[in-house]
Amino acid sequence: MRLAFIILLFLSFSFLQLQAYNKKGLNAYKKLCVQCHGGPFAGAGMHTTEEWEDIQSNSKTPLLDIHKNVADAMEKFESALNKKRKKYLFKFLINNASDAGTVPGCDGNYCGQD
Ligand code: HEC
Repeated sequence: MRLAFIILLFLSFSFLQLQAYNKKGLNAYKKLCVQCHGGPFAGAGMHTTEEWEDIQSNSKTPLLDIHKNVADAMEKFESALNKKRKKYLFKFLINNASDAGTVPGCDGNYCGQD
């Protein structure tokens, strides 16, 4: 019984860890944003949850709007920012916003600040 409890505790803990960020969003960030905005958690920390939500909902093409004067970014987005990826990316940004309280640790996908 006690062992079952410990296993359950361990499982729920690792589940929480997995939920701390989504891998697809992290990868989208790495592909599209790292070059100019630094590590994924630093990038997500540019804004609070509410700010990211506003940015996401203010426009159908929020990232294009923000970067319309940044030719390199526009080029990158044009080739690689599809709808699905945008969804995952915003999920990642919102979940890891400056006020989200996420403390990035090390796992198979990510370690450190960049
Ligand atoms: C080629 C470089 C480049 C890439 C790639 C890039 N950005 Fe930017 N980003 C900039 C620059 C330069 C600005 C400032 C634009 C301005 O002020 O006109 C900016 C501004 C922003 C802002 C507004 C800053 C603020 O203080 O509100 C956000 C948010 C942002 N970027 C998010 C992203 C995200 C998310 C990605 C990945 C999808 C990304 N950027 C990819 C260069 C880039």
